[in-house]
Amino acid sequence: MNNDIIAPPVAPPQAAPVHDPVARLETMRAQSLLGGGEKRVADQHRKGKLTARERLEVLLDEGSFMEIDAFVQHRSHDFGLDEQRFLGDGVVTGTGTINGRTVCVFSQDFTVFGGSLSEAHAEKIVKIMDLAMKIGVPVIGLNDSGGARIQEGVVSLGGYADIFLRNTLASGVIPQISAILGPCAGGAVYSPAITDFIVMTQNTSYMFVTGPNVVKTVTHEDVSQEDLGGAMTHASKSGVAHFAAGDEVEALLTIRRMLGYMPQNNREMPPSVDLDDPADRRDYMLNAIIPDSPNKPYDMKEVIARVVDERSFLEVHAEYATNILVGFARLGGQPVGIVANQPASLAGVLDIDASVKGARFVRFCDCFNIPLVVFEDVPGFLPGTDQEWRGIIKHGAKLLYAFCEATVPKITVITRKAYGGAYDVMNSKHIRGDFNFAWPGAEIAVMGSKGAVEILFRKEISESDDPAAALVARENEYREKFAHPYLAAERGYIDDIIEPAETRPRLIHSLALLKNKQDANPWKKHGNIPL
Ligand code: HXC
Repeated sequence: MNNDIIAPPVAPPQAAPVHDPVARLETMRAQSLLGGGEKRVADQHRKGKLTARERLEVLLDEGSFMEIDAFVQHRSHDFGLDEQRFLGDGVVTGTGTINGRTVCVFSQDFTVFGGSLSEAHAEKIVKIMDLAMKIGVPVIGLNDSGGARIQEGVVSLGGYADIFLRNTLASGVIPQISAILGPCAGGAVYSPAITDFIVMTQNTSYMFVTGPNVVKTVTHEDVSQEDLGGAMTHASKSGVAHFAAGDEVEALLTIRRMLGYMPQNNREMPPSVDLDDPADRRDYMLNAIIPDSPNKPYDMKEVIARVVDERSFLEVHAEYATNILVGFARLGGQPVGIVANQPASLAGVLDIDASVKGARFVRFCDCFNIPLVVFEDVPGFLPGTDQEWRGIIKHGAKLLYAFCEATVPKITVITRKAYGGAYDVMNSKHIRGDFNFAWPGAEIAVMGSKGAVEILFRKEISESDDPAAALVARENEYREKFAHPYLAAERGYIDDIIEPAETRPRLIHSLALLKNKQDANPWKKHGNIPL
């Protein structure tokens, strides 16, 4: 890293005489690199945080950053602001590359007015976002800000709204990624919330609509900043954050890795990379991975790891709604979005949080031409008053809607259970699954055998001399009849029943067949996903 940038001199250099334009430029440039000065930079480091420019050095390829608007200053006079002017006005903006691919970035500088957003600061962000849209590249925002520049009043709020509008218009056109690396409070949280992915850092970042003091006044709850809106809270409880990184370097490297799976914009295909993992590799351990008892869990992450290109799975939202797994991976070098039920968590049931988590990821992949691969082992939707009263119907419908509307290549592998409405939802043939495979032990039915038998034969069982034996006999009969994939295959709802070991080659071959897939939805202004 460049030490000149990390530790600027105490006194800013004086402007050079105007008769030497180049010297003047150099002086001004040096001044623009100082941020809020040595003391504030030291404060930033003391808190375990990097400066805005140091962060860009980690995020971008070495030497690739091209700054714009380094000489922008605020235009305020109130509250002594005319005495305090900093070149750049608290945000560093520009372009750079990540693994050779162009991105637009803004990085808020907490050492200047606490990274607060003035009119000029907002204009810089808006300008770099507009550029990203024009040239069709991702935009990455590194947020570290005390919110609206209090001295500026409503123009600052207007600046936020200008950014929110750009976030919304850019949604689905270019990937937008937010890192939260410090405070992010009040309405400011809504810009990251509209972007595609949020990465937070543990113990140094937080997001909330109102802080602990207001919470205490209004609800009388005593809660720390970290508990209210820290990285782990948002990564595990609210689902607002997709990643909770241990530190800033990990957060920035996660963004670099994530971008490798995405195209630059919605008109391009995601980049293939040869990872040297043979396309015809069979994994015979998969033949034995499903336990003998249908009620026993196994780890779907292991299935994914054995099928996709070696070490290519990047799990998203790993701590949240762990009964569903989502993330990026590669198959034969091609990026795919994985959506999988996790039998090792709540038996892989679909509940509200899992449905919303899955739906958002499916929609991201569909926006950006990333094929979807689904691993299915789902006993159904979670019953109960809690789920019903909180709206499992409308939230479950989100996942259904997302899979229905997706036109990217869509492949499903049913590893074990596919029961009830959840069978339809998890990218079934009926909702435009392109290739639907089942492993030979798959159970595809309206419900599990015990539940079915208790409904169909309740009277017969209760009146029998030995109800327990009668139940087991009927269960065995039901299982024999329905708990297999052949009825679905008979109707063509399953394209083929495959040996688990051959899952990887079959998926890679299917993706190759679907490379030029064309599918479309009817013209509409936009759909009305059940929110
Ligand atoms: C102007 C600000 C500022 C702000 C911080 N600073 N926030 N200046 N406007 N919003 C300045 C401080 O005066 C200080 O300047 C420097 O930044 C560092 O701040 P500290 O308070 O010393 O830092 P720290 O102790 O780490 O606390 C950080 C903080 C706190 C928790 C963010 O500064 C804070 O509570 N700020 C106010 C947050 C806020 O209420 N923002 C408005 C929210 S409303 P000096 O010169 O002393 O170094 C909002 C609406 C958005 O944002 C709506 C969008 C629709």
